[in-house]
Amino acid sequence: MKVLVIGGGGREHAIVWKLSQSRHVDKIYCCPGNAGISELAECIDVNQNDFNALLDFVKYEWIDLTIVGPEDPLSKGIVDLFAKEGRKIVGPDQAAAQLESSKVFCKDLLKKYGIPSAEYKVFTSYIHAEDYIKIKGFPIVIKADGLAAGKGVFIASTLDEARDALKIIMKEKAFGDAGNRVVVEECLAGEEASYMVFTDGKTILPMVSSQDHKRIFDDDKGLNTGGMGAYSPAPVVTDGLENVIRERIMTPTVNALKAEGMKYKGILYAGLMIDQGRPKVLEFNCRLGDPETQPVLSRLETDFMEIAMAIAEERLHEISISWKKDPAVCVVMSSEGYPGTYRKGDTITGIKQANDLEGTYVFHAGTAYKEERLVTSGGRVLGVTATGITIADAQKKAYEAVDKIHFKGMHYRKDIADRAVKSR
Ligand code: AMP
Ligand code: GLY
Repeated sequence: MKVLVIGGGGREHAIVWKLSQSRHVDKIYCCPGNAGISELAECIDVNQNDFNALLDFVKYEWIDLTIVGPEDPLSKGIVDLFAKEGRKIVGPDQAAAQLESSKVFCKDLLKKYGIPSAEYKVFTSYIHAEDYIKIKGFPIVIKADGLAAGKGVFIASTLDEARDALKIIMKEKAFGDAGNRVVVEECLAGEEASYMVFTDGKTILPMVSSQDHKRIFDDDKGLNTGGMGAYSPAPVVTDGLENVIRERIMTPTVNALKAEGMKYKGILYAGLMIDQGRPKVLEFNCRLGDPETQPVLSRLETDFMEIAMAIAEERLHEISISWKKDPAVCVVMSSEGYPGTYRKGDTITGIKQANDLEGTYVFHAGTAYKEERLVTSGGRVLGVTATGITIADAQKKAYEAVDKIHFKGMHYRKDIADRAVKSR
């Protein structure tokens, strides 16, 4: 079979890598892909938001299945177009993708169906939002309604900080129309974890748990990023808690969407805050997490193409999924300046030496070839991932691999998975 993957980050490299191991897959295309992906797939030069061009490509090349990595094409309706044309695709349609693309939609749905989440109120007026914040006190969380590339969430500890956040979102319109409405919500305490499931709208197949590291610097200091590293499993998600997450959060959410007349097909990702064993939803994403996918798919034993096809054909109940026991750790290496303006075009060395280490795989994110030279081309450059007998072993191997790699201005956190290692 032929498959097209949309996207060009570390998550998509992990998807392509898994597909390349499938006994069903003869050819992989990726749009736009990156340097690492180009070793396993044919990278195509089509704009990933030009859905008609992608559809033409799929028809011309007789592609059997399309898998969408990022949220943007989903929120813009790629699935609706492909489904209308009878093409198999993995991902929710535009209406269901609002779970990620509109925080107001998500919060209202959770409230209506009694799914645990922070208390909140929605505002279109700056003054009313400010008045509410004064009553509620601090800390308080302020979120732009729409997609803001992870930058639309502010945790305010003072009235001045809250006013600044409201100004950025509502007056300066830093995120455009995404800031037409704001959600002001209770600040939750606890430990965060990511929980992802595959679903065809009827059956739910859980993935192993994981934990991201969102801040740029060690000890969770500095600005929020797309994610600087991840590990799986997350010890905070015990077996008992996993049942609670499935029964109180994942299944009711899929059923709630169904009750609202929407069918959710693809990946449902819950960002959770866990406080004394009780999970609450911080956010939903309608796609695989990046970098969580790198350690999670490293642990997948089942043929990924079989799962993806079963989602598209709504027969996920036929799949039994299995995972490696061995934990996995991914350390993200980023360019100087990220998550702000970052360097580009620096030569990367040592990937082969890192990949040669046992149980280690270097997933590419922002990389490109420039006249045969492998160079940096994005904020997050590599996701150095290793599996080990224990989480400490996986962590040690991942950092040994990181030590082999070099590029000018490189940055990485030194404490990825420390929390999991210490909790053992
Ligand atoms: P979100 O995009 O909604 O997941 O928010 C990004 C990050 O902001 C989360 O991963 C949390 O670290 C933090 N956050 C969001 N909502 C809350 C909340 N209600 N309480 C505490 N932290 C939050
Ligand atoms: N790592 C968080 C995300 O993918 O949104």
